[in-house]
Amino acid sequence: MRSAADAKTEAAPALARAVELSVVIPTFKERGNVAELIKRLDHTLAGVAWEAIFVDDNSPDGTADAVKAIAVGDPRVRCLRRVGRRGLAGACIEGMLSSSAAYVAVMDADLQHDERILPQMLAKLQAGACDLVAASRYVEGGSAQSFSGGRGRISRLATRLTQRILGTSLSDPMSGFFMMRRDSFDAIAGRLSPAGFKILLDIATVGGGLRVDEQPFVFRSRHDGESKFNAQIGLEFLGLLLAKLSNGLVEPRFIFFAIVGASGIAVNLGVLKAAMLVWPGQASFTLAQSVATFFAMTSNFLLNNSLTYRDRRLRGWRMLLGFVGFCLIGTIGAVTNVGLASWLFYRQGEVWWLAGLNGAVMGVLWNYAMSSMFIWRTR
Ligand code: GDD
Ligand code: MN
Repeated sequence: MRSAADAKTEAAPALARAVELSVVIPTFKERGNVAELIKRLDHTLAGVAWEAIFVDDNSPDGTADAVKAIAVGDPRVRCLRRVGRRGLAGACIEGMLSSSAAYVAVMDADLQHDERILPQMLAKLQAGACDLVAASRYVEGGSAQSFSGGRGRISRLATRLTQRILGTSLSDPMSGFFMMRRDSFDAIAGRLSPAGFKILLDIATVGGGLRVDEQPFVFRSRHDGESKFNAQIGLEFLGLLLAKLSNGLVEPRFIFFAIVGASGIAVNLGVLKAAMLVWPGQASFTLAQSVATFFAMTSNFLLNNSLTYRDRRLRGWRMLLGFVGFCLIGTIGAVTNVGLASWLFYRQGEVWWLAGLNGAVMGVLWNYAMSSMFIWRTR
């Protein structure tokens, strides 16, 4: 009969080599890329004790199953399946939190990130001169040829804006490809935000004292499937930058609320113009402006519902109820605005623009506070 001691020595070889590098790979609908990526990691990381942690947000294409099918025969591969949640940064954070290796890397699943630089990144960390190695498209030797003209321009603009506003020294702050010491990550994990695509930037900003190095790479084109980057994610990031510009005085959500409000003015004027063409004659101006106001309120409500308060989006009858409430709040806001402006106008010796501005600002603040509290409240 085999003794417990025998079983222990048999198991020992497998335990002999602790994992040194965890490669965290966030996935959403990447079924067609999983096998190829693992094959390439296996090739490029020969000689390193590595593991791959796929963090999948319950992809409808069965990405998690594809990973698990490989994991059955390869203990270096794991899948962390998250349900009821979405988000690139959050997935990266949870994957890194599940690692007990000395070093953790984060890379995309679609093979846009050149896995062949992983050994160089690891060597830099092992040499001990830095805590974080960021893979960069914008240092000597790197490039982002695969970007279509439009996306490339947006990426470069976002990079410059970010560098200017956040004062980061990263040449490619929007890169989602990096490697770092796990203890450095653990120390700041609690202060990172799970929203958006900007995980590296967040780590570099929060971990202000990290010693950072960069490694050039060529951003390839996607192997299979399509990008999950969208206007919503871009706008969210813009809001974050603007909020930062205001020194934290205004929150990103308010900025969107104000932008939507401004778009409402454009809708109002546009519809008014059209309505006056349909109903010519001075007598129907009030009717035209009423219709225009209704259109503006509706478009404001829909935009706020799908943009400003996307995370608290109302649907079905709640949406209908919310719309009625939104119109009510808007009406009270308008009355407040006019009341305050008139009072100021007569008191301050008829400085019309100051009175008007105060009224408008007051109206927006009222609408925002009430909408946040009553229409799109956190449930
Ligand atoms: N778990 C999870 N949840 N993964 C996600 C999610 C999500 O909600 N959204 C995207 N991913 C995964 C994708 O499956 C992919 O592996 C990786 O995150 C990058 O997503 P892509 O959809 O390929 O993004 P991209 O190529 O447009 O953007 C890349 O370049 C940007 C810079 O231009 C990424 O590397 C970004 O991080 C980077 O900012
Ligand atoms: Mn991609």
